[in-house]
Amino acid sequence: MKKQLLLTFSFLSICFGTYAQSKKAAITIDEKVERLLGQMTLEEKVGQLNQYTGDRLATGPVTENSTKYKDIKEGKVGSMLNVRGAKDTRMVQEIAMQSRLKIPLLFGLDVIHGYRVTFPIPLAEAASWDLKAIETSARVAAIESAAAGQHWTFAPMVDISRDPRWGRVMEGAGEDTYLGSLIAKARVKGFQGNKLGDLDAIMACVKHFAAYGAAIGGRDYNSVDMSDRALWETYLPPFKAAVDAGAATFMNSFNDLNGIPATGNSYLQRDILKGKWGFKGFVVSDWGSIREMIAHGFAKNNAEAAQYAINAGSDMDMEGRVYLSSLAKLVQDRKVDIALVDDAVRRILRKKFELGLFDDPYRFSNEARENKVLNSADNRSKSRDMAKRSIVLLKNDKQLLPLSKSLKTIAVIGPLAKSEKDMMGFWSVKWDNDHLVSLYEGLQNKLGKNTQLLYAAGCNSVTDSTHSGFAEAVEVAKKADVVIMAVGEAFDMSGEAKSRANIHIPGAQEELVQAVKQAGKPVVVLTMSGRPMIFNWVADNADAILHSWWLGSEAGNAMADVLFGDYNPAGKLPMTFPRSEGQIPVYYNYKSTGRPSPTDLAGVYRSGYIDMVNSPRYAFGYGLSYTKFSLTDLKLDKSKVISTDSISVTCLLKNEGKYAGEEVVQLYLQDVFASVTRPVKELKSFEKVYLKPGESKTVKFVVNKEMLSFYDQKMNWTAEPGEFKLMIGNSSDHIMLQSKFELETN
Ligand code: GLC
Repeated sequence: MKKQLLLTFSFLSICFGTYAQSKKAAITIDEKVERLLGQMTLEEKVGQLNQYTGDRLATGPVTENSTKYKDIKEGKVGSMLNVRGAKDTRMVQEIAMQSRLKIPLLFGLDVIHGYRVTFPIPLAEAASWDLKAIETSARVAAIESAAAGQHWTFAPMVDISRDPRWGRVMEGAGEDTYLGSLIAKARVKGFQGNKLGDLDAIMACVKHFAAYGAAIGGRDYNSVDMSDRALWETYLPPFKAAVDAGAATFMNSFNDLNGIPATGNSYLQRDILKGKWGFKGFVVSDWGSIREMIAHGFAKNNAEAAQYAINAGSDMDMEGRVYLSSLAKLVQDRKVDIALVDDAVRRILRKKFELGLFDDPYRFSNEARENKVLNSADNRSKSRDMAKRSIVLLKNDKQLLPLSKSLKTIAVIGPLAKSEKDMMGFWSVKWDNDHLVSLYEGLQNKLGKNTQLLYAAGCNSVTDSTHSGFAEAVEVAKKADVVIMAVGEAFDMSGEAKSRANIHIPGAQEELVQAVKQAGKPVVVLTMSGRPMIFNWVADNADAILHSWWLGSEAGNAMADVLFGDYNPAGKLPMTFPRSEGQIPVYYNYKSTGRPSPTDLAGVYRSGYIDMVNSPRYAFGYGLSYTKFSLTDLKLDKSKVISTDSISVTCLLKNEGKYAGEEVVQLYLQDVFASVTRPVKELKSFEKVYLKPGESKTVKFVVNKEMLSFYDQKMNWTAEPGEFKLMIGNSSDHIMLQSKFELETN
């Protein structure tokens, strides 16, 4: 008996001790934050809200800053961006460790599509519709950058955009809210891994909050004006998906939204993000966006800008320096409540504790790990895999593709055919003497000695408008069995501050294709860009077209994999390609209007143009395959449903062709009649399915209330009873099966 009592007692004391320990651990971070906050002076608190850029890299308008390191030492800086590498981050962190309270710095960098190994640009990755591959891409970027001293990436950019004149479409996921929300979640998970504090995890930073992609005229930094319904229905959901995925931080946007700059917009940052959505991380401004409220004509001076920004929930001032110059005095003059400053500091300190930086400020700055992890063969192989999944087959007349590897002579023509640097795309991390695989090199790697590669640039550069190189290009084409051409944008023609009013293929490149076509040989065109481009002549006259974006370190190998059938392209456009800039904004989920133009001819009194059809050149969700898929046997398990129930939808996908491949089966819905006008279709689900020749598979979807819901006239999220159209296809403009069902009142 006594022994039992003893055993029970010791068991209970162990449990209690563990419980106390766990309870102690459970409150540790919050308690540590409070304890540290209590030791901080007002200046030190303001210092945590201040972020400077490093010297090596400018990603915004740099202003002279000779006191940078002195400020760090005096505890006036909470974070640095654009400091790269284990060595440099350690060096700068050592300066921060000389400050009174030794609060470690956060190091942030734009790791947008890869760190040491460059992956395809995000818009290209979105074309894969392959969420696992997209997450893997972000995972590799996190593993590499975390090994190189980074704590934080300024990604994912989740701005929905329907305007290809805006150069920043290259960093997002395109025009669709549903696809964009899934990709936002995949990227946050990829960057943040299992949990923050792991040595292969970096903080995500969801940007640009909010609605930056709707800048008027597609002009970067321009104003945004939209209804609450458009904001909530189209532009906010990817941000919410990122919050739900546990994103650590947000970045606000340069634009004013309905007259209020995002960085001074408490509706966005306090009511929605920190209020309704309960976001516990912190918000960093975009580069100088707080100070820029003066240029917006919204704040009269730095002090007002700082006051509006902190009141609106901007926690950290990136390179604006107005918090550092004005916030302490605003608090002392009782114009800003210290509680707001404390809240911002808490949010930032909490992340520093979560990352383990107080235990070891240098834990991410480990040169041995950096040298081991970066640029591995496995990382390059993942980049190549992502790249080939991102390529979209736009045309393939007479099944010209895939090409035979036993072709005798191939002409490789175009100013991008041997380019390495343009394969990086914008927002890539630049490396000295980096090696990227160009198209030409990828062909060399793919083909044996029996195939002769001929080359001509044709144009001196992508912007060269002369025809001086045309004759040589035509001569080279005449000697070949097949011509492969690489035309498009240079790496810096899409990206930040790269809006284009004319989104045709630049220079004389399209004329080069015309000239080469005269040689009478089959012509395969690889169009490369950071955005949808316009190339109507190429679209009508090339024999085959592969849109290959900017594909990163393994670009040429991925293109060769696709060109010669070692990978059957399955990409689907995440953004509409217009026929003309005059059609912009043009997107698939448009409204019917009172005078729809279903036959695509403007005609009299129809919503259209008298000089052009409404339809785009290539639609959202479009992309061909080397094989042929059929979709049949559409079945719904009920034709009437109440909102608490769901409908099971099945259809049969079959590979009718001779190549194995993947198809993205897309499910669209239309709410035929509702209390507000609804789009003619909206993507609500998709399945990417791999099938061998002759194989078939039943594809299943579940239609539920959430998919039928929208914001009604009072902005209540609701599903209204009535008829719904269900459409299934392999592109938004190629519906292969359709049905309808009734949502009944419960
Ligand atoms: C830039 C961009 C933003 C980027 C930041 C830091 O101006 O707008 O996306 O993360 O500055 O480079």
